[in-house]
Amino acid sequence: MGAIDAAADLLAAANYAIALTGAGLSVESGIPSFRGPDGLWTKYGQPGNLSYREFARDPQAWWERRLRDEATPGNPTFDLKDAVDHAAPNPGHLALAELEAMGVIKAVITQNVDDLHRQAGSRALLEIHGNRSRLRCIACGRQQPRAGCAITDVPPICRQCGGVIKLDTVMFGEPIPKATLDACFAEVQRCDTMLLVGTSGTVNPAAQFPAIARARGASIIEVNPAPTPLTPLAHVAAKGPAGALLPQITAATQLRRNGTG
Ligand code: APR
Repeated sequence: MGAIDAAADLLAAANYAIALTGAGLSVESGIPSFRGPDGLWTKYGQPGNLSYREFARDPQAWWERRLRDEATPGNPTFDLKDAVDHAAPNPGHLALAELEAMGVIKAVITQNVDDLHRQAGSRALLEIHGNRSRLRCIACGRQQPRAGCAITDVPPICRQCGGVIKLDTVMFGEPIPKATLDACFAEVQRCDTMLLVGTSGTVNPAAQFPAIARARGASIIEVNPAPTPLTPLAHVAAKGPAGALLPQITAATQLRRNGTG
């Protein structure tokens, strides 16, 4: 049996399937991944783990550099902003939203900050690394859309509590907001099937989720054109681009759910 049918069998039979997605899902939307041949970190080097500490030490300097990098080609901030600003959900995002609408996928845990799952219609969404379309106060946690918020004075200050505002993306060295992390672990503990899409499985804590689920007896499906450290955990490894494979897996799952597959 091919991987598409094997994946559809597992998803159709699942009582509580969740998805864990990474940058590879957005590659077909024109957003570079981080690692691998065309990755941003491959091209520019991975940021150090002190990124958040540098921000906390001098938020004004951080924002001045950030706004400058966003406007100046030739750095990962510019490349990512430019790509995300021009990106739209691809068939892979849409397929995951359809699997949610079918009642098959109960939650999507995404490491992506590009907002494409939400734009595609996913609603049971946990953004473990945040979302670049939002700002967040580091004191009270208040979130607001970045669009329409003209950042004139840096650092931007929270009108609610006077705290310093940062992008709502989790920096290297920054703790993941506790409510989000707790919700992710709750989904990992509850799922009986986990669909891994486009992640290299190299950044914790998300990289641990498949092993935790598998140890509990969950079925693991991986969609990725290349092998990863997570591949040995997969009961089904569908090798190929998510934008091509996920619609096929979704259609095959639908046939099974309708009793015609
Ligand atoms: N479809 C599916 N997977 C793909 C595709 C595609 N079209 N193209 C590439 N991939 C796979 C690659 O083979 C790789 O395994 O996507 C994965 C991308 O890996 P990374 O670039 O490491 O992205 P990710 O796993 O999401 O990184 C995790 O690292 O720097 C942090 O915060 C950043 O959230 C990110 C985290």
